[in-house]
Amino acid sequence: MVITVISFKGGVGKSTVSQNLAVSLAHQGKDVCIIDADENESSNIWYSFRPEELPSVPVFHVTNRTDMSKTINTLSERFDIVIIDCPPAVKDTTSRAVAKSDFSLIPITPTGGSDVWATEKFLEHISLLRDRLDAPLPCYFVVNRYEPNVTMHKAYLNALGDYMEKYQVDWMNTILHKRSAYGEANANGMGVLEYENPKAKKEIKDLTKEVMAIVELAV
Ligand SMILES: Nc1ncnc2c1ncn2[C@@H]1O[C@H](COP(=O)(O)OP(=O)(O)OP(=O)(O)O)[C@@H](O)[C@H]1O
Ligand SMILES: [Mg+2]
Repeated sequence: MVITVISFKGGVGKSTVSQNLAVSLAHQGKDVCIIDADENESSNIWYSFRPEELPSVPVFHVTNRTDMSKTINTLSERFDIVIIDCPPAVKDTTSRAVAKSDFSLIPITPTGGSDVWATEKFLEHISLLRDRLDAPLPCYFVVNRYEPNVTMHKAYLNALGDYMEKYQVDWMNTILHKRSAYGEANANGMGVLEYENPKAKKEIKDLTKEVMAIVELAV
């Protein structure tokens, strides 16, 4: 099973979602790894801080298109679940990752107009890729850094609803809220499941349940 975490936008939580999902699945006894496809090596560096006593979540750094295909083939034989943490750009490497994935997660931060525009541009790219490959390439939004008291955030969720129909994208019911635990866990090589914030833990557990439901439907 291969899951790509991708978006046009930087800083929306691709690495955060990849790492937390991987940690959560590892705690459920899954053999899980991350392919870090970003030059910035966020997940690769995160892994170097991971305490040894915690469940292993190996990270492989791959930024080249040919290596990406080979690595996905090899790792998907070896691991139950491979999560690909993508850079904030659409290139051959990331298109290859999406094409070889069972589904993609698209983290979205509802913070302003540029998020809307970047999301639409990205979804247009996915549409082209679907046509070119004649493949469904299922995609799911994951709303991240959500702040219920910010009016703009609600308006943004409505805009996403329009995209769902236009671009055939689904979304995860679990919303990840803005919480400092995400940054703190990351800085310690952990997921929030291994950190002391019950609300963050719960939302990652809920997201994992939803992801596993899709995984089980696909196998
Ligand atoms: N739900 C959240 N609440 C608070 N902080 C968050 C949340 N999600 C992510 N962050 C923080 O936002 C920053 C960007 O997140 P992250 O690195 O996961 O984004 P990214 O999409 O991978 O970025 P890039 O495009 O640069 O790779 C990080 O400092 C991270 O700790
Ligand atoms: Mg990242």
